[in-house]
Amino acid sequence: MVCLKHTSHALPPPDGVLAPQENLKVLEGAYFLGYVPRTVAIVCVEENPLAVAWHMPTNKEPFLYAVCIAKDNYSHSLIEKHADFTINFLSAEYLSDILVAGNYHGDKVNKWELFKKLRPAKALRVNALVVEESLLVYECKQERTINFPDHTLLIGRVELIHYKRGKLKPDKVSYPLHMGKGYFSKNSKPRSFSSVENSKIPSGE
Ligand SMILES: Cc1cc2nc3c(=O)[nH]c(=O)nc-3n(C[C@H](O)[C@H](O)[C@H](O)COP(=O)(O)O)c2cc1C
Repeated sequence: MVCLKHTSHALPPPDGVLAPQENLKVLEGAYFLGYVPRTVAIVCVEENPLAVAWHMPTNKEPFLYAVCIAKDNYSHSLIEKHADFTINFLSAEYLSDILVAGNYHGDKVNKWELFKKLRPAKALRVNALVVEESLLVYECKQERTINFPDHTLLIGRVELIHYKRGKLKPDKVSYPLHMGKGYFSKNSKPRSFSSVENSKIPSGE
């Protein structure tokens, strides 16, 4: 095997490549999310709901979906013992209850009793609760976990999906988006971009 020593800037940059801008702020070895909006959902591990903004699909067949759980959350102790969990996507109108799920710990209080609007229901396939008001629910079995210093990536095999008939339309859904540092937003005015040419979002949106 031939190893080539990597020398940065060994070649002149191609035409059109800009030099680093002077107004760039550079962070190294930092934790910084830059107000990138992320949908906040509720995960129920067995009966306990917690808010999660760190989640993503990770495979199509089988459909795998990952959520990241902090080790100091009560839910983390639950995922060590229980394989079943649900991921519940709710409309932005439930944000205050979502914040209850995201600010109280299930070993101290029963969050279902604190919710103003959200109600528990039994999952159809797995041994966990679902949030009745959800637009979309993934019922999951733990596929694997990946251990990191302060979080565990919990990867679930989605066993069953259910959603509210007629409500999952791009122009109808309004999901709560967490931007960090207590800031929230929601999606609005979706547009279908059928080609690159007509993909200009009007200014002000
Ligand atoms: C908007 C928002 C997003 C959150 N995202 C996550 C997340 O992705 N992973 C996580 O472990 N905790 C997340 N949290 C924090 C937990 O929801 C919070 O610590 C909760 O009280 C844990 O509940 P538990 O101790 O009953 O498990 C989030 C909280 C909020 C408000």
